[in-house]
Amino acid sequence: MKRKNISIAIITISFFSCFFIKKNSFNKAEFLFPEIVNPKHNRPTKERVELGQKLFFDPILSIDSSLSCASCHKPNLAFSDDVAFSPGVYNRAGVRNAPSLANIGYHPYFLREGSIKTIEMQVLVPIQEENEFAHNIVDIAEQMKKNPEYVKMSKEAYGKSPDPYVITRALAAYERTLVSKNSKFDKFINGEIPLTKEEKQGFDLFMSNKTNCSSCHGGFNFTQYKITNNGLYENYKDEGRMRATKNNKDLALFKTPSLRNIELTAPYMHDGSLTTLEEVVEHYNTGGKNHIHKDSLIVPLNLNKNQKLDLVSFLKTLTDSSFVQDN
Ligand code: HEC
Ligand code: HEC
Repeated sequence: MKRKNISIAIITISFFSCFFIKKNSFNKAEFLFPEIVNPKHNRPTKERVELGQKLFFDPILSIDSSLSCASCHKPNLAFSDDVAFSPGVYNRAGVRNAPSLANIGYHPYFLREGSIKTIEMQVLVPIQEENEFAHNIVDIAEQMKKNPEYVKMSKEAYGKSPDPYVITRALAAYERTLVSKNSKFDKFINGEIPLTKEEKQGFDLFMSNKTNCSSCHGGFNFTQYKITNNGLYENYKDEGRMRATKNNKDLALFKTPSLRNIELTAPYMHDGSLTTLEEVVEHYNTGGKNHIHKDSLIVPLNLNKNQKLDLVSFLKTLTDSSFVQDN
């Protein structure tokens, strides 16, 4: 009789501890970085990456030679910007917040609506946009041909003089080198350092089905790239994915951003309307606004003050200061 009671107790305890561990556990492998897949037509070489890097920082790309890619994608801000809308040439107002380019080589599609399929193709967007560079890639190639250094670099990288093929390939090859995987969180995953109690509690909350954060922002790059609606507004000024597809079902859907280096990439959301991580956490805590396309995972969370602070502490472990310094 006694023995039976003990074994029931053991079974009960192991059942509940299993349940408890499952709720807060994570699979380490989920956070390890796979190799970047480089397209066959654009294998990275030192010459290609160097040419792309030079172009990325060169205002030759904008019509009045006033802006480079780095004007809006600033290396010290993990290749994002600190204003809601970065101004384009002649101070023309932008319409979306500039996203971070950290780990961009892993994204399956580009822009906040996910409408562009490759990084190479994405290069054409800022070049042509009236409120970004307002330029023309054929004219840029002509300008580059007048510069002996660009001609030399272009021949060494792609075996030909500067042209649209070279410009788009070289910039993309450079962008794929922007890998950020040395944050405090990565060191924790590699068993090098512990997280503080608050950070660990925040991580557990992030992974739990109480918050659902990791259902959309899970995996090594802290996004599953789901194109969805997180309930920011009842009425959006920006059509989101519908801008590209013209389909009503895509109204106000945006690509889930990576949360790596999130401490450095304020302001937040497609329009930079939230300025701090505390505001972001509060947004999710309230369950957001009622939009017809709001994802069913966005619900009131009832987090207490400490839980909100813990979540923010965890998000700050995703800052990779060596990435910011080295680039
Ligand atoms: C005037 C500011 C500005 C300049 C200059 C600029 N960008 Fe951007 N970039 C943005 C904004 C804003 C977005 C988001 C646009 C959207 O979603 O419609 C963006 C998006 C991107 C994306 C997609 C990111 C993602 O998460 O899908 C990439 C890649 C990118 N830019 C690379 C570049 C490169 C390369 C250059 C130079 C050739 C450049 N950008 C120049 C503001 C800028
Ligand atoms: C249903 C999917 C979903 C869930 C669940 C979710 N998010 Fe998001 N998150 C998004 C989308 C989509 C955006 C981009 C919205 C936009 O651009 O307006 C976003 C944006 C963010 C941003 C701003 C990123 C940036 O670069 O601007 C942060 C920070 C963030 N989420 C944190 C969280 C946290 C913390 C949780 C859990 C409390 C969470 N998210 C839950 C989908 C989700």
